[in-house]
Amino acid sequence: MTNLSGKSVLLIIGGGIAAYKSLELIRLLRGKGCAVNAIMTRAAEEFVTPLSVACLTGRKVHNALFNLTDEIEMGHIELSRSADLLVVAPATADLLAKMATGQADDLASTALLATDKAVVVAPAMNVRMWTHAATQRNVETLRRDAIQIVGPNEGEMACGEFGPGRMAEPIEIAAAIEAALTPAVLPLSGKKVLITAGPTREPIDPVRFISNHSSGKQGYALAEAAVAMGAETVLVSGPVNLPLPPGAQVMPVESAEQMLKACEGELPCDIAIFAAAVADWRVANAAAEKIKKDNGRIPALAMVENPDILKTIAQRKDKRPAIVVGFAAETERVAEHAREKLARKGCDMIIANDVSATTGVFGGDNNKVHVITPLGAEIWPEMSKRDVARKLMEKLAHELAIRQAKS
Ligand code: C5P
Repeated sequence: MTNLSGKSVLLIIGGGIAAYKSLELIRLLRGKGCAVNAIMTRAAEEFVTPLSVACLTGRKVHNALFNLTDEIEMGHIELSRSADLLVVAPATADLLAKMATGQADDLASTALLATDKAVVVAPAMNVRMWTHAATQRNVETLRRDAIQIVGPNEGEMACGEFGPGRMAEPIEIAAAIEAALTPAVLPLSGKKVLITAGPTREPIDPVRFISNHSSGKQGYALAEAAVAMGAETVLVSGPVNLPLPPGAQVMPVESAEQMLKACEGELPCDIAIFAAAVADWRVANAAAEKIKKDNGRIPALAMVENPDILKTIAQRKDKRPAIVVGFAAETERVAEHAREKLARKGCDMIIANDVSATTGVFGGDNNKVHVITPLGAEIWPEMSKRDVARKLMEKLAHELAIRQAKS
């Protein structure tokens, strides 16, 4: 089994002497279990015959944009959509120019413009055509469009000149295709990350509650970063006014007790990050009905302590996540309080930030954090909450890999 088996590639053969090498490329791809559909430009047919290409692909060769039979069997848009990847070999200077400027005046260029799949191109042309500023500009544009360029190689050319311009060998092109079709292994793929975010709401009665100013931005940015790194991401969120991070499983909750229950229901997980600003107390005697104004009598609210979600999960005997991270919002002696909190809660890391009124951290887009572990402290420069999230998730992925390698 290779990464190519069961895949389908649309090969676009341009008009160049290197077209004969594309026959070998088809043979190689098919040998790896990959289906190949081919489009030939009109010029390509001057170099290799559609019959050779059809024999090797085992399929009909496509060459005309307006072909009634082809359109009925498989429209030209469908031809490029149904492939896992498009490869242009040889990619002539003319085809590169068409791709770079988005022209679509034949079947090959139309299929290239109509695709949203990965595209690999293997340029082949005379050395002066390759080094010409116009071609180099076009290649630069294609690179910016995330098109992968393989080759050209340097060597003797069919025209008798020497230099870069020879099409990459079929084996090199097949390797580039295989690499492009191999999903990148992301640092947290196969791992589960649990994140809490936002404030909690502790009811006084069905219409009133006690809450705080947490915006949820840091927790949501963490969820976004965890998803981008391939983690199965569960975000247990108090009420916030933020767009849901795509790819994360969001569990909306209100009170601290609901948040704890939701978190416990998501164990086991590999990393748990408690970024929520959980209310420390709730109203013990929350009313079932709206409390009425009663001749100036002010209701007395009895408070009870909320469960400490971070501490409860960090100190579990079973299903404790491999890494438990807490946040510490402090208004003074930030690092000192954070170190004390690390020990008291039994977590592996505390991210401490100064939320005193002058910092603008609460509700703002930036954060300046101290990262405290039992081994020491790092002070990160002020950066966006998104950058803090990315940097922190990278650190945690690294730490998790070390811990899991040791165990
Ligand atoms: O003790 P303090 O509230 O400062 O601790 C902050 C850290 O503990 C944060 O990570 C917060 O999410 C978590 N926490 C919690 N449950 C609570 C209180 C705080 O998970 N009831």
